[in-house]
Amino acid sequence: MTKKILIKSGTLITASETFLADILIQGEKIVAVGDDLDTQGAEIIDAAGKLVMPGGIDPHVHLALPMFDTISSDDHYTGHKAAAFGGTTTVMDFVVQEPQGLQYSVDLWREKAQIAAIDYGFHMNLTHLDEQVEREIPSLVEMGITTLKVFTAYNGRLRLPDGDIFKAMRIAKEHGMLTMLHAENGDVIDVLVEEALIAGHTTPEWHAHTRPAWGAVEAAMRGFALAGETGAPLYLVHMNVAGEVDMLHYARQRGLPVMGETCPQYLFFTEDYLRRADGAKWICSPPLRTEEDNTRLWEGLADGTIQVMGTDHCPFFFDGTVPIVYDGEQIAIPGKELGFHDFTKIPNGLPGVQDRMPVLWTEGVGKGYISPNQFMAVMSTNPAKIFGLYPRKGALQPGSDADIVIWDPERVVDYGVSMSHQRTDYNLYEGWKLTGYPEKVYLRGDLIVDGDEWLGAAGKGQYLHREPNTGVL
Ligand code: URP
Ligand code: ZN
Ligand code: ZN
Repeated sequence: MTKKILIKSGTLITASETFLADILIQGEKIVAVGDDLDTQGAEIIDAAGKLVMPGGIDPHVHLALPMFDTISSDDHYTGHKAAAFGGTTTVMDFVVQEPQGLQYSVDLWREKAQIAAIDYGFHMNLTHLDEQVEREIPSLVEMGITTLKVFTAYNGRLRLPDGDIFKAMRIAKEHGMLTMLHAENGDVIDVLVEEALIAGHTTPEWHAHTRPAWGAVEAAMRGFALAGETGAPLYLVHMNVAGEVDMLHYARQRGLPVMGETCPQYLFFTEDYLRRADGAKWICSPPLRTEEDNTRLWEGLADGTIQVMGTDHCPFFFDGTVPIVYDGEQIAIPGKELGFHDFTKIPNGLPGVQDRMPVLWTEGVGKGYISPNQFMAVMSTNPAKIFGLYPRKGALQPGSDADIVIWDPERVVDYGVSMSHQRTDYNLYEGWKLTGYPEKVYLRGDLIVDGDEWLGAAGKGQYLHREPNTGVL
């Protein structure tokens, strides 16, 4: 007989409403939301005094991503487990484009993700374009991949020339796909990096000095202009600077089909962190900026200019020569120490997939920057809509997957590595006191996190075949 669960007397938080109701789950789906539901045969979960939310969706993570001479230290099991503990039940990561073709590249990533513990989708990194690739792009939609990420930086590695981005966006538009843009100026970065190294500047702060904010602003606007020239939608990833918010606002006001995502690190930290003795912990690309940028990003989130809160979770050990114990095993993966003598060799990226919802609840909702409903919109419903998963995901509605978080708004935690399941040796929010934390997390009706206990398993996460033609929020 199909399992029935009744989540009773919780306060439901959706992207648009807050209300008291019960939720009935049958098997993997929500079957009813309301009062006086038929509880016969159901396990009753008392959620009185608790908040009940759709599972979080983090559309920007990098799991087991090879970088420089190492690999991001969470794989498709540990990263998923960490996500779940933070209230996230769906993640999307980026397939590396291999020379053997897009199908081959996706197959490799599907293989890596066999150990998935939550549901997941993929974006395709488009880092090389020729006629063969152009012909192959539409086949991604049949594979359930409706998004291409392009780069205006990382010259000689990931960058596409503007003309190729233009061509890719035209193809994407024709097939109902969405282009995602990493916006920095790769040419300027190359000049500044060369000059910095010649001058003997090797410390982490030079990572920020060599990747100027104006490059991000200009490249973002270049992307929006390409959206204007092609009519194709564009989603700006990891927004990090005030001028990007201004440009996004400008472009949206003029009716361009453009949207944006920021990440917690760009709201809380500045390039000053790079000057610390452990500054390498904060190396990511684009880099951290200034307090003015933090403030403008908060404003953009609050006024709806920015639609999504991702993480760009791409963790590395701070000191990958010293093992940590993870799931009872000693583990050490080369990390930031690779660039101890040269900032250009420090792997770029930060942990954050577990931190995202608890930190933003305390700092965003708790401090009144955003409402609980805005929180839900940027954490779950908007990414579900933008990335072709709504209303299967991102909603508490009959027919939606029963991806549900019961959130204890009163739980106070001393946050940091001791609570984190992210497989790395540090946490950006070490010592922060957070109020509000997930208590129970359900993935398609299965309880996978119960308090501090892990009930999930490798292989239980499902690949999400996403829908094209999602429109612009
Ligand atoms: O530093 C970062 N963000 N690493 C991941 C790659 C990217 O560009 O998102
Ligand atoms: Zn990027
Ligand atoms: Zn990224």
